[in-house]
Amino acid sequence: MSVLAETLLGDGRRLRIVEPTPADAAELCELIREAFGNRPVVDPPPPALTETPEKVAAALAGGFGVLALVDDAPAGVVIVSVDGPMAGIHRVSVRPGFQRQGIASAMVEVAIELLTARGVSAVELVAREEFPQVVSWWRRHGFVEVDREGTSITLARQLPVRLAAPTAEDTQDIGRRLASVLRAGDVIIASGDLGAGKTTLTQGLGAGLGVTGSIISPTFVLSRVHPSGVGGPGLVHVDAYRLGSFAELEDLDLEISLDDSVTLVEWGAGIAEGLADDYLEIDIRRTLDPEDETRWIFLTPIGERWTAARAELEAL
Ligand SMILES: Nc1ncnc2c1ncn2[C@@H]1O[C@H](COP(=O)(O)OP(=O)(O)O)[C@@H](O)[C@H]1O
Ligand SMILES: [Mg+2]
Repeated sequence: MSVLAETLLGDGRRLRIVEPTPADAAELCELIREAFGNRPVVDPPPPALTETPEKVAAALAGGFGVLALVDDAPAGVVIVSVDGPMAGIHRVSVRPGFQRQGIASAMVEVAIELLTARGVSAVELVAREEFPQVVSWWRRHGFVEVDREGTSITLARQLPVRLAAPTAEDTQDIGRRLASVLRAGDVIIASGDLGAGKTTLTQGLGAGLGVTGSIISPTFVLSRVHPSGVGGPGLVHVDAYRLGSFAELEDLDLEISLDDSVTLVEWGAGIAEGLADDYLEIDIRRTLDPEDETRWIFLTPIGERWTAARAELEAL
């Protein structure tokens, strides 16, 4: 079994995330029934309580599983179904005694990475209203309610479009091509560590938009306005690194220029979401290999504007 992720838990035990095979079905079934059997009773009971090894094996054959091992002992499992561009997350199970250590988050994170790598566009799941803390846990992981039947709430989340940029020029090119998708009023929230390539991508974006002035890290200026040189939208380039809250961002009066510019906020995650209902989230990450300068660029469409533009993002 290849290890998909590995980390240490708070108590020093080793957590490894692996992909189980249908041969593990009986063990996974037991784990699922133990985890769900330990929850308070709800009516109607969740299908997980009548899980069978046969059903688990069939689900793994039609999708995949994500298994958490703590010091080699099975501690949690998630079953993922894949149906074309849509995926479903099922049976999020953590064994009693292993809960509240981030195991569910780690499994879901890996599941979402695997789905993103497969080019799946959205993922959904059903959570029960009787467990509001579970529902808010999913909301914190970016899921929003899309349907409700009785006490069953369907929550869904768009998955990022993933692009590879082997060199800084490639990152700029992606920015340049992204510019052709952009229009006045668009908001982009970029994140990624220092040196990830947020400003590099913005430089390409500015070139593609045909804006004036050189694009540099606005670190000491907080925000810089680049008017269009070609009669299109200007670019407002913001650095939120030193800002602690949306209130501080509001002090920059970005609303004034929002409607007739493209606004890009570096370090905007957790701060700039209040600027618009619809925005494009860009997350740039390096690979685990320090010798490798490739950046993975994740574009997540938020809201109707960007969900509708998904195909254009995939074509970048
Ligand atoms: N594939 C790549 N994509 C983007 N930048 C890269 C890449 N490879 C090397 N680099 C370099 O990494 C640095 C990225 O810096 P910058 O764009 O200012 O990051 P940020 O704004 O995210 O802090 C630049 O010096 C750039 O030349
Ligand atoms: Mg920067």
